[in-house]
Amino acid sequence: MPYEAPAPVGVEATPGTLAPTPPVLDFRGNPKQEEFVFCPDPWVAFAGAIRSGKTVGACARVLFHAQIYPGSRILVGRKFFTDLESTTLKELFRLVAAQNGGSYRNPGPLVVRHQAGQGQHTLWIRTKGEPSEISCRPCAEIQKQLGLEISEYLLDQAEELEEEVFNHIHSRCSYWNAERTAKFKSRYGYPPRRWGTLTANPDPGWIKSMLFEENNGWRLFETTIEDNRANLGDEYIEDLYRRMPKDWCDRFLRGDWNIRGGAVYPEFNEDVHGIRSFPIPAHWPRFLAHDWGISSRHRCVWLWGAVDEYGRLYIVDELSVTDQIVSQVAGMVRDKTRMDRYWPVESDGGILCVMDPATKQRHGVTNRTIRDEYALHGIYGRDANNDVSAGLNKVAERLHIQPNGKAGLYIFKDRCPWLMKHIKTYQWIPPNAQGIAPGKPLKKNDDEVDTLRYLVMDVLESSSAAAPKSEESRDPYGDYILKTFMQGGARGRVDGGIIF
Ligand SMILES: Nc1ncnc2c1ncn2[C@@H]1O[C@H](COP(=O)(O)OP(=O)(O)OP(=O)(O)O)[C@@H](O)[C@H]1O
Ligand SMILES: [Mg+2]
Repeated sequence: MPYEAPAPVGVEATPGTLAPTPPVLDFRGNPKQEEFVFCPDPWVAFAGAIRSGKTVGACARVLFHAQIYPGSRILVGRKFFTDLESTTLKELFRLVAAQNGGSYRNPGPLVVRHQAGQGQHTLWIRTKGEPSEISCRPCAEIQKQLGLEISEYLLDQAEELEEEVFNHIHSRCSYWNAERTAKFKSRYGYPPRRWGTLTANPDPGWIKSMLFEENNGWRLFETTIEDNRANLGDEYIEDLYRRMPKDWCDRFLRGDWNIRGGAVYPEFNEDVHGIRSFPIPAHWPRFLAHDWGISSRHRCVWLWGAVDEYGRLYIVDELSVTDQIVSQVAGMVRDKTRMDRYWPVESDGGILCVMDPATKQRHGVTNRTIRDEYALHGIYGRDANNDVSAGLNKVAERLHIQPNGKAGLYIFKDRCPWLMKHIKTYQWIPPNAQGIAPGKPLKKNDDEVDTLRYLVMDVLESSSAAAPKSEESRDPYGDYILKTFMQGGARGRVDGGIIF
């Protein structure tokens, strides 16, 4: 079938009249997909149920833009390359091949050139002018690639990405600068445009806030599996509804974003557990915990905690950073700790803390451990208790709101934004297609909550009286302080004072 480049969207056409490649994609089974593909809004998300046609629609959308805006620079990304190749690119290449006469690799009516290797694919798409470039790459660490300049992006399963990665990609959409825009306009008679397309499943993280709360220009097409029923067939859908737990069906088939079922800490309530910071009395014992990491996938996290007379733990400060070496982090930790003149220190001025046990692993080249490196800077770590299920349980117990409205754990929300954000979004691994859940938390944005677990276990182990006590039953300045704090590790001094 002869190839005809489609007319520009939003310039002289309306949705429905524009099917770019009728033999390639038929929208009759999914009219919402058609509306999404041709939506003239620049920032568009197709989000909700699984199997609802999101990836196919998003690929059609960028392919369409590539053809009507000659010289476009389009990024097609998903977090990891293996997923990108096995899902997104499968659908993209299927569409490209159909339009290119059977192959996505070989030159043809649509493809000028295809290049693959080093974990990426690049396609040059034929247009009425300069070819458009579609660069397909994993995005997990894309912020490290300098010089990325794009006119458009498609991020498939965007909820998998860190918010900062998404922000970075969005900020690189600067290709159509004034000069290129003027050139384009004079040549084709209409202006080029910046576009961003996201697909996502319901997720409680940043994408939910961005699409539902921040209202910053994103047009959202919410999907349910019903939207794609005609293409999937009744039997497949009915089988899923029958087999899978209700929470899962609500989220992944009905596209419900109101997700509480999967939260590891469902009792966490921002209004109860998040409080404004206040000066910490000098006699409250201090605790410090650390989880090492160096990339955005594994952040480097420190949490400072203090325990009041009733055994309630306050997370009073945090450090959550990426791409810093030990000496830099140590400097920041010392600065923050020094602000608290009541912090218990060794005679040499060193700082004591618990650390992720993995910090003891030796580096193959330096033969030193992360812990050795910290010790060089006067920060002395001992093993945190890394019994995950016990730790999760202890944190959950502390979050439990007692009949008097009090909990055993509070977070200074003005000082600990990362912990506040990630404790809310900490999820269990969802059940598989057979409805079996492994009972483990998802290893995603878990660095702050892991550190919290270490801290809570340290409090528990450092003081038998550290569990929350009934307020009525004890004298806050009585023998509790003596027994627990003065003997149990001499953490803190009873001389009053303003800290933090
Ligand atoms: N317009 C269409 N015509 C025919 N089949 C379609 C159409 N759109 C999607 N499909 C089919 O529906 C299925 C799901 O589509 P797609 O992969 O785009 O959904 P998704 O929402 O991205 O799913 P997932 O949750 O697996 O990422 C695929 O098998 C795809 O081929
Ligand atoms: Mg998909």
